[in-house]
Amino acid sequence: MDTGLANRVAIVAGSSQGLGRAAAFALAAEGAYLALCARGRAALERTAHEIRERFRVRVYTETVDVRDSAAIEQFAKNVNKEFGRIDICVTNAGGPPAKWFLEATDADWNEAFSLNLLSAAVFARAVIPYMQQRQWGRIITISSITVRQPQPQLVLSNAIRAGVMGLVRSLANEFGKDGILVNNVAPGYTATERLKELSASRAAALGQSEEMVEQVWTEQIPLGRLGRPEELADAVVWLASERASFITGQTLLVDGGMYKGL
Ligand SMILES: NC(=O)c1ccc[n+]([C@@H]2O[C@H](COP(=O)([O-])OP(=O)(O)OC[C@H]3O[C@@H](n4cnc5c(N)ncnc54)[C@H](OP(=O)(O)O)[C@@H]3O)[C@@H](O)[C@H]2O)c1
Repeated sequence: MDTGLANRVAIVAGSSQGLGRAAAFALAAEGAYLALCARGRAALERTAHEIRERFRVRVYTETVDVRDSAAIEQFAKNVNKEFGRIDICVTNAGGPPAKWFLEATDADWNEAFSLNLLSAAVFARAVIPYMQQRQWGRIITISSITVRQPQPQLVLSNAIRAGVMGLVRSLANEFGKDGILVNNVAPGYTATERLKELSASRAAALGQSEEMVEQVWTEQIPLGRLGRPEELADAVVWLASERASFITGQTLLVDGGMYKGL
């Protein structure tokens, strides 16, 4: 399958580990040039180095905290300066902490808004003008199965990510005329560092072992296992590619069948 991604320039945010890192690898495997960001420099540089060695593509890196709007805007400018274009933007970051509703403070709500909703909006605002110049673009948000199936103890994610859906649909409507397609991928339980943190926190809350928590999760998944980051990354590649050229405003669940609705 020719994805048409060779020589495209793709920003992947939150890409030093986990799902963002896997998405970066998968886009590089298709020949895309990359601009990666995260807060921690060491892991980011390790990821960039591995990608350059393996795929021989150009990789630009910058330490960016996606809660800092000015930093995102500067990053986009730097990426455009480096490559002369921005074709694809994958928004991603860490997730909000697991909290029950009565535990979540105003600070928690503001933090979740900034990390998981505002950052996606600011990335979109920063990259859309470059995409409009070429009348081609792909914005892909990485959110969560919580957009379809709210999860216990994840009220911050359950509520805030619903806003990402509103953003994705709005951008798809407004910028379709510019050839910019905007979609969301929603991972179910996928084996990353973030998931290990969640299983530890849930195990502590329930007084159970992490293995028991993971077993309860996998029992809800028809495929009977956690996802692999590469499986989410393949969905990102497809949505970024020419093979998904009539798809916009959608959410693609990558959850092994965990969401049971129609
Ligand atoms: N894994 C799952 O099962 C699962 C399921 C549903 C939804 N999700 C969601 O998918 C997203 C990615 O999950 P993951 O499992 O890949 O998480 P992860 O393993 O914790 O990786 C998060 C990545 O984002 C970066 N990051 C975190 N905060 C950032 C910030 N403020 N600014 C810039 N970069 C930041 C991290 O690097 P630094 O820490 O160095 O910044 C890291 O590279 C999260 O929003 C998560 O809630 C994951």
